[in-house]
Amino acid sequence: MDNKRREGFSSGLAAFFATLGAAVGLGNIWKFPYVVGENGGAAFLLIYIICIALVGLPVMISEFFIGRRTRKNVVGAVKQLNNGKIWTGIGIFSLLGSHFILFFYSCVGGWVYSYVFKILKGEFAGATSRTVAYQFTNTTMGPISPVIWQIVVVVVVSIILILGVKNGIEKITKTLMPVLLVLIVICDIRALTLPGTKESLAFLFKADFSKVTSQTILIAMGLAFFKLSVGMGAMVTYGSYFTKEDNMIGTASKVAISDLIVSLLVGIAVFSAVFTFGMKPSGGPGLLFMTIPLVFSKIPFGNILLVAFFILASIAATTAMTSMFEVPVAYYSEERGMSRKKAVIVNAIIIIIFGILATLSVNNDSLLGGIKIFGKGFFDLFDYLSSNVILPLGGLFIAILVGYFIPKEEIKKELTNNGELKIDKVIDFYYFILRYVTPVILIIVFLSSIGIFR
Ligand code: TRP
Repeated sequence: MDNKRREGFSSGLAAFFATLGAAVGLGNIWKFPYVVGENGGAAFLLIYIICIALVGLPVMISEFFIGRRTRKNVVGAVKQLNNGKIWTGIGIFSLLGSHFILFFYSCVGGWVYSYVFKILKGEFAGATSRTVAYQFTNTTMGPISPVIWQIVVVVVVSIILILGVKNGIEKITKTLMPVLLVLIVICDIRALTLPGTKESLAFLFKADFSKVTSQTILIAMGLAFFKLSVGMGAMVTYGSYFTKEDNMIGTASKVAISDLIVSLLVGIAVFSAVFTFGMKPSGGPGLLFMTIPLVFSKIPFGNILLVAFFILASIAATTAMTSMFEVPVAYYSEERGMSRKKAVIVNAIIIIIFGILATLSVNNDSLLGGIKIFGKGFFDLFDYLSSNVILPLGGLFIAILVGYFIPKEEIKKELTNNGELKIDKVIDFYYFILRYVTPVILIIVFLSSIGIFR
């Protein structure tokens, strides 16, 4: 495709909201609370924040650099930057990663969408811990309805993508992200008046390091990658749509901080309910679905707030999926000569087929729950492989490619917008971390997680 005719975002603000839309997702609303809950709260949180600062953020900046420098999809971009075959393989590895995430993400997205309708139908009126647990099982076991909802989600995202980068991705994220932020604040105001708030805050902010192992660090790192949407080229692809005036380091930092704030706000709401209603913080993937309905039960307008919360979660899921799905769409339309529409449809079909495998194997009682690969069902396998293997490995390759195979001058030129931005010190710091800290942490965590190193 002719690069001059290539679509892009229209402003720095649009780029910020699109990237924030990619970052804020089910990761904050569904994953973050239960992963923090299962791994001991504040101690985990601290490790997570370190992973964001020393690994996630430098990789995000590097992805933006690759994208905007080349203005290409992830495979085309790495091919152009460095002619070695091995780097092209990494582009293809990224495509695989985006599909793996989409397979299980679309399933959870379907649950979230379906909750909006269930709430509207009044199924959560007067919810108790027992009825919400029943509703969650009912929602996820199906087997027909979760699959239908999953297909609905994939179709919605496909429509946004077919509309294009400006009319689809940019318009949707710019309109919906501010709405989402307002809704979260409203939900927190309610949650902060629950009796369990104090315990919730203690759980999130008082560290107990006795539970931390090398596995914990691997999980924190996986979550950091997943949260910032890095490690598989989504940020290369979005970076390729940035304007030439955009301050990429600034955008990346603002997104990382906003995303962390959203996670914490959701965490406070979820754990306030957990401690108010005597539930366990380590409730697993169902945690969100069984706590939030209780936060709003038995208060005036509770049902409206509840619907608002799940609409918010649906928005987050949709804009995040859009960013993953754009990766193969950009690749097929730019490198394989497909029309954008055809690229969307072909990939949507693949996502639906494998996504159904995930949906039907959420737990042991699911229809395909008995099928185990490496001891995991499809749902857990897609989740584990993407967060704990594909994203960190992708991140390592990106750090090495940018840190060691590209002249520093070229990086500086791009990140300062040809010398416009006076941020040389910041770039030196980023470059140092990217070369000597990020890859070292990644390698140590990998080796220790497979038991080679303690
Ligand atoms: N960050 C999103 C979330 O927290 C998930 C996500 C969107 C993602 N795009 C991605 C994860 C690309 C990895 C790669 O829900």
